[in-house]
Amino acid sequence: MGLKALIGGLSLSGIMVAFLCGWSLGVCPHSSAQDSPATDGWLKGSEAEKFDQLEAHLRGLDVAMIEIGYRFAEVYFAGKDRNWTYAKYQAEKIGLAMDLAIRRRPKRAASATPFLADEVPAILKAIDSHDGQVFQRGMERLRSACMSCHVAEKVQDFTIEFPEHRLSTIRTSR
Ligand code: HEC
Repeated sequence: MGLKALIGGLSLSGIMVAFLCGWSLGVCPHSSAQDSPATDGWLKGSEAEKFDQLEAHLRGLDVAMIEIGYRFAEVYFAGKDRNWTYAKYQAEKIGLAMDLAIRRRPKRAASATPFLADEVPAILKAIDSHDGQVFQRGMERLRSACMSCHVAEKVQDFTIEFPEHRLSTIRTSR
């Protein structure tokens, strides 16, 4: 690159910075330290204290269960619609959400292990059959697997039933 081109390039980047700073997008070299998320954000204290706060905000099994409950309803209606691609996607996400949840709450892992090892693969197999009756039996099995864990974890009054209403805006296009 020639000197002229180099100077041209440098002044162009100077113009870019001036342009962005003019609109206060927080990329100015002279922007004050208070503007940066590291000091102005909601995480307070030392690094370790910040990680503790992040852990608390990521929550435990409760939030994962809301996600799993939602996805359970999505698998159910996807099967009714014979939208097997979407049913599979949702069943896989139930497995992922549960797997990550027990890393955050290892004391629940013993109850979750058979669910992850046997029950998630079983519903995936039922979905793969592309057969409405096989799928319905798979959903019955999944529902009782949810309940077995609720009994084991002493939340037996959290009874799982099939949903009466659709929750999301996804519909099969076929
Ligand atoms: C690892 C065992 C386990 C499995 C498997 C399990 N659950 Fe749960 N579920 C729990 C526990 C424990 C709670 C109470 C959460 C808490 O106390 O933090 C719960 C709570 C819930 C809630 C209430 C969440 C809320 O806070 O509103 C729903 C909905 C739910 N489960 C749905 C399901 C569905 C659907 C399945 C099956 C696809 C399932 N669960 C499988 C253990 C389990």
